[in-house]
Amino acid sequence: MITIAIDGPAASGKGTLSRRIAEEYGFHHLDTGLTYRATAKALLDAGLSLDDEAVAETMAREVELGGLDRSVLSAHAIGEAASKIAVMPAVRRALVEAQRGFSRKEPGTVLDGRDIGTVVCPDAAVKLYVTASPEVRAKRRYDEIIAGGGTADYGAIFEDVKKRDERDMGRADSPLKPAEDAHLLDTSEMGIEAAFQAAKTLIDAAL
Ligand code: C5P
Repeated sequence: MITIAIDGPAASGKGTLSRRIAEEYGFHHLDTGLTYRATAKALLDAGLSLDDEAVAETMAREVELGGLDRSVLSAHAIGEAASKIAVMPAVRRALVEAQRGFSRKEPGTVLDGRDIGTVVCPDAAVKLYVTASPEVRAKRRYDEIIAGGGTADYGAIFEDVKKRDERDMGRADSPLKPAEDAHLLDTSEMGIEAAFQAAKTLIDAAL
């Protein structure tokens, strides 16, 4: 059993990279952002407050890791609510427990999120910290929406990316930061394919 931990801010390319790695090696993949999103959606759907930690924890314990689907959890309001409840230690404890259980699956796992290398899987065989400048990340989000036939405002997306970074990096419990032994991959210049090749070299060396 081998675990690959991938962390980074929103739209850094960590999701695409994680899926490529999981596919290449036949590993199970968990996008841990979806666990926070599913908890937030359950609260929103039930009309419950996003400020009650005990209620949010109960919802977090109900999340089924097998049934997570980004297409039903992608709404902007769900992402915002997810980043609000992600500051609650009881919510994090519940979801981290489930994520750790997942990380032990055979033959190996790839988990991506904000605190995988630092908190969820500190013993992961390979840790990657994927970043890109806020400008590049906002442009990627923008292009994705336009490619999907939607309309988008680059300035608003850029402000949103910065706000999300501040919240994720500034929270007291498990802030987003590279683990001391993480390999940094900046995808601003190199692109996802080159990042995948760099990751492959590191993983092959750890197998
Ligand atoms: O990655 P995604 O944007 O779907 O995550 C939604 C929110 O969940 C993030 O803004 C972050 O606050 C939170 N999150 C977290 N820890 C993780 C994954 C996501 O706090 N491991």
